[in-house]
This record gives sequence, structure tokens and C-alpha cells, in this order.
Amino acid sequence: MTEFQSKIRTIQWTDNCSRMVDQTLFPSEYKYVDIKSGDEMFLAIRNMIVRGAPAIGIAGAHGIVLYAMELAKENLSKEEFITKLLEKADYMKTSRPTAVNLMWAVEKQKEVIKNSTKDISGIIEELRENGIRLENQDIEINKKIGDFGAEVVPKGATILTHCNAGALATVGYGTALGVVRSAFAKDKTIQVFADETRPRQQGARITTLELTMDGIPTTLITDGMCSYFMKKGMIDMVVVGADRITANGDTANKIGTYTVAISAKYHNVPFYVAAPLSTIDTSLQTGDEIVIEERCREEVTHINGKPVCADGVNVINPGFDVTPHELITGIITEVGILKPDYKKSIAEAFGM
Ligand code: MRU
Repeated sequence: MTEFQSKIRTIQWTDNCSRMVDQTLFPSEYKYVDIKSGDEMFLAIRNMIVRGAPAIGIAGAHGIVLYAMELAKENLSKEEFITKLLEKADYMKTSRPTAVNLMWAVEKQKEVIKNSTKDISGIIEELRENGIRLENQDIEINKKIGDFGAEVVPKGATILTHCNAGALATVGYGTALGVVRSAFAKDKTIQVFADETRPRQQGARITTLELTMDGIPTTLITDGMCSYFMKKGMIDMVVVGADRITANGDTANKIGTYTVAISAKYHNVPFYVAAPLSTIDTSLQTGDEIVIEERCREEVTHINGKPVCADGVNVINPGFDVTPHELITGIITEVGILKPDYKKSIAEAFGM
């Protein structure tokens, strides 16, 4: 396995709380915050102090430990404790709607709660251990994704990415940027073009920051520029992350990903999605069934707190779009690169 070490650790269970990088402060500050209660975690996810599908999954898992620690102080019977904790777990899943990793990780904690034979303090210990196990597993899975993905990166490639599917969207290596890291470990001549990714500018604020920290050559472009550079033959492949992939391969990712995929198809540029199996939601058949998060108007009307449009103009702000499976060259997972027909390859990956 590639031993490229990123300097970044996005989230970690430490000293009885969840320590995470506050991603609302980028790029001016790189600061850790300690999340000490379940409700604080709910808000950290909703307000995007922590963001990126796998990272909010781990945050959700930590949040259940925090809720459990709070309920333990309430003098409840074991049955009352379990009932209340399962309700809190379902509430945690509503902090953001689109990335399925949040629901997946909270469900993993619910299994621990339901199956435990221990007393209340034993259940808390099992939840804590499971949270830490999911954290460490995330990095291992990302490295496997990175290694499979690196095999399809041409020598000296320029890789376009959208949003941030990097160490800062996961525990510490990345999915799309995990592919970049693993490829860079083998070939120092590759480089990245990063889409700015309006409205929240995760590409500009987060992707350029983390790639620069790890010494990977990066060029920032605005979202509308991708077709221009593809036409010039300057992009060899696209790799993006995912928030939810349905049984047929349709993929929800940050708004604007669909536009990049259409342009890639037109210009014959391979378009890859890199994601762990926990991002695949086989309960949904097509992307039409994915709930797309609507975010606040200020993300569009303001940049850094300053208005960029006429006061009172109408705004619509969907956080994600769905790229149809026909536009996707391959889905890079920890068990290999899934290829079309996705219904078949996804079902096989899940042993269905
Ligand atoms: O709204 P965000 O910043 O949480 O959206 C993140 C993305 O869309 C990422 O590309 C996706 O979660 C993949 S992260 C490995």
C-alpha cells in the first residue's frame, strides 16, 4: 500500500471529545475545535465546521458517543438509556440530508447499541471503540482507493477535481485526492487543476490548501473554465468524490460536478468518481431518489461576508447535483474500480 503521509488529521476522538479542524475558517486559519456534546456535534455538521461525506460520517459516530455520555448522567435504566440514545441517533442523521456516509456511520453505532450485552458504561466504551475503529478504517479504505485509482492515472497527468474530496473531507487521506496522493507518490510530474466550487469555494479554500500543504502542484481555476481547458487538451482526467451513489451508479456530488461530467464526455476526458462502498446506497435505484440539500441564500449572495449581487435578488442554492451514470468512466472503491454496467458491478461489489 502507498505510504504517502498527509500532514492532515481532520477529526479524531481525543480526551473524551471529538477534535476536528474548523473548516469554516479556511484558508486564513488552521485551528482545531473540541466538540463536547451531541447537540454541538449536530451543529458542527449542519454548519459545516466538519464537511465532506466520510468526515461527517465519523463526526456522526462521535456524536453518538457524546450523546451516550450525556444520557449516562441522567440516572436512567438501561432500557430507557437505549430508547433515548436511539432517538438521538436518528436525530443526528437529520443534520445533513445528502451524504449517505452520515446515515451509514450512525447506523453502525445503532447496531452497537442494539447488540450490546453490557451495562451503560460498557455500551459507551463499545461506542467509543467503534468510533475509533471507523476512523482508522476510513484512512485504510482511502489508501486502497488511492492505490486502485493511481493505476489509471497517466504519467505526467493533469487531473481536474471539483469541490474537496481530500484529507479534509475524510479522516486524513482523501478519496479523489487520495487517488492524487497515491499517484503523486509514484510520479512527481502529475498536477491538479482545482475548480473553485462556488458557492462555498471548497475547491479554492480547502483543496488548494491541503494539496499545497502536501507539496502537490495545484492550479486554481473558476468553475466556468473547465471546458476551456479540456478543449485545449490540458486535462487528462477528472476525479471527483461522491456524497451518495445509487444502485445504478448515478452519483450525487457537490453542485457543478454534473457540468464537469458533461464537458468531460464531450471532450473525451475520462471522468472517475472515487468513493468508499459506504457512499453507495443500494436502497435507492436511481439518482432521482436522492434528497438534495438546499442551503441558505447568503452562501450565494455573499463572499467573505460581503454582498456580490443586488440586494433582495431571488436565489436558489442546491448544494449538490446528480451526475448520470452514463457519464462516469469508473467508480474507484476500496475493492477495485467498478465499471459499467454499474447495476451489475455495484451488486457484485456488495455480494448481491
Ligand atoms: O458540502 P460539502 O463540502 O460537505 O460537500 C462535499 C462534497 O461534495 C465532496 O465532494 C464529497 O463529500 C466527497 S468527500 C470525500
